[in-house]
Amino acid sequence: MNYQHAYHAGSFADIVKHSLLALLLKHLQKKETPYCYLDTHAGAGCYDLSAPKVQKTGEYLSGVMKLLAHTKNHPACLTPYLNMLQSIDYFIDGKITHYPGSPDVAEKLRRPQDRLILNELHPDAHADLQQYFRRKPNIAIHQRNAYEFLPAMLPPKEKRGVVLIDPPFERQSEFQDIHRCLQQSLIRWPTGVYMIWSPITGNTPLNPGAMTLQGIEQPILQLDFMVSPIIPKLSGLVGCRHWFINPPFQFEANARALLQYLKPILKTD
Ligand SMILES: C[S@@+](CC[C@H](N)C(=O)[O-])C[C@H]1O[C@@H](n2cnc3c(N)ncnc32)[C@H](O)[C@@H]1O
Repeated sequence: MNYQHAYHAGSFADIVKHSLLALLLKHLQKKETPYCYLDTHAGAGCYDLSAPKVQKTGEYLSGVMKLLAHTKNHPACLTPYLNMLQSIDYFIDGKITHYPGSPDVAEKLRRPQDRLILNELHPDAHADLQQYFRRKPNIAIHQRNAYEFLPAMLPPKEKRGVVLIDPPFERQSEFQDIHRCLQQSLIRWPTGVYMIWSPITGNTPLNPGAMTLQGIEQPILQLDFMVSPIIPKLSGLVGCRHWFINPPFQFEANARALLQYLKPILKTD
């Protein structure tokens, strides 16, 4: 396990993923009944933007810093994420110092009745995650392989909720693992909302392992976000793909408006 999310914290891909996640959770909150949020690859929780790993790549400069410079006239569907991001927890003297990862987004946006189940396999990231949420109620933290963790947790007692699957894609077999895990998980919890992130690079259209979500009967929404054109065979990230299984009613229209707003802000020059 070489991947460490600190190198990519606050990147354009994080902004798109986390703002879509915030929107998704807000859609679930249209009902008063509690939901469960499950994060299979949770990472460390929150990232110090001054840390050497973050500074080394500086990816946050073309992600969160660009977004914070363009917050005027944003669409309503971005408000929950922006309000959260601009809270005092992440700022010192008017400057952003920390960036919230997916479990932090879910924690900040949840209501008292909602529950979080987080999973992270890497020992360092798992320790950081535990430390970060040590005083928070209604959060369970696991250290298991994501693909055996998820089916084992399903269905949650709330019967409604969101699963985020956000792997590092270090291995060729990642797509197959996700597909198999989804098939098992959907048998146990066919009505859950599942969000899956994957990278778009110059290799994506040619990738023989590219996931098609074949055999899944539930409604699927695919949203791609590109920051630059695909250059064939180049492995750098030029965009990201998001699948939503069982997307909530009216989520698609709001998600498209959100991506439309982010596109000119995050595109590479
Ligand atoms: C892309 S990062 C997660 C970022 C996080 N979801 C966020 O948005 O803030 C992927 C994480 O998965 C962890 N990981 C890698 N393989 C795993 C596995 N098989 N099971 C669980 N976690 C794994 C890595 O240590 C890394 O922290």
